[in-house]
Amino acid sequence: MSHNVLYVESSIFGAQGVSSQLAADLLQQLRSQSPDVVVTERQLRSDTIPHFDASTIGAITEGKATLADELIAEVQAADTLIIGAPMYNFGVPTQLKAWFDHIARAGVTFRYTANGAEGLLKNKRAYVITSRGGIHKDSVSDAEVPFLRNILGFVGITDVTFIYAEGLNMGDEYRENGISAAKEQIAVLAA
Ligand SMILES: Cc1cc2nc3c(=O)[nH]c(=O)nc-3n(C[C@H](O)[C@H](O)[C@H](O)COP(=O)(O)O)c2cc1C
Repeated sequence: MSHNVLYVESSIFGAQGVSSQLAADLLQQLRSQSPDVVVTERQLRSDTIPHFDASTIGAITEGKATLADELIAEVQAADTLIIGAPMYNFGVPTQLKAWFDHIARAGVTFRYTANGAEGLLKNKRAYVITSRGGIHKDSVSDAEVPFLRNILGFVGITDVTFIYAEGLNMGDEYRENGISAAKEQIAVLAA
């Protein structure tokens, strides 16, 4: 049986982004670990995801096929998600926020019960690769990781590993250290 990996790339620099290059390392590693790995790529720079708006809600209500359906089907089919998540202005890229706006749908990826919200995307693992110009891990300036942990958990994805590449714009030494720390984290991961 295949092991489906969904790679969501959100760097505005596409494949040149640091998060994208680290994601490529992780994808290569997962492929080398298992011949059954099948990768689907969703590149948010080229596959433009519009802001989620009332017209999209209208189309969904009318039962029309939408990009949101396609994005949800990709996540549902995935066993493992790899999310490239650079920090832009202390949070996720707006493209990645739009992707989450499209995939969070009541009755499909989450539902409200008498006991509160329940995520419906079960048995999935996520790797988030977050690249930053500065250093923010575990500090109040990091609005990105808490958001990602919350929204992923909300739709049922609770097995999440964050890979950090920090200090990328703080000079050569910090940049090299930040990238090698991320590569070391990646080297021990498995599908
Ligand atoms: C629009 C924009 C906003 C950014 N905002 C931040 C920020 O708030 N904090 C930070 O540490 N780095 C910030 N950076 C630096 C990026 O996080 C850094 O360049 C990182 O390598 C980007 O990842 P990428 O190469 O995968 O796109 C910003 C970069 C851009 C282009």
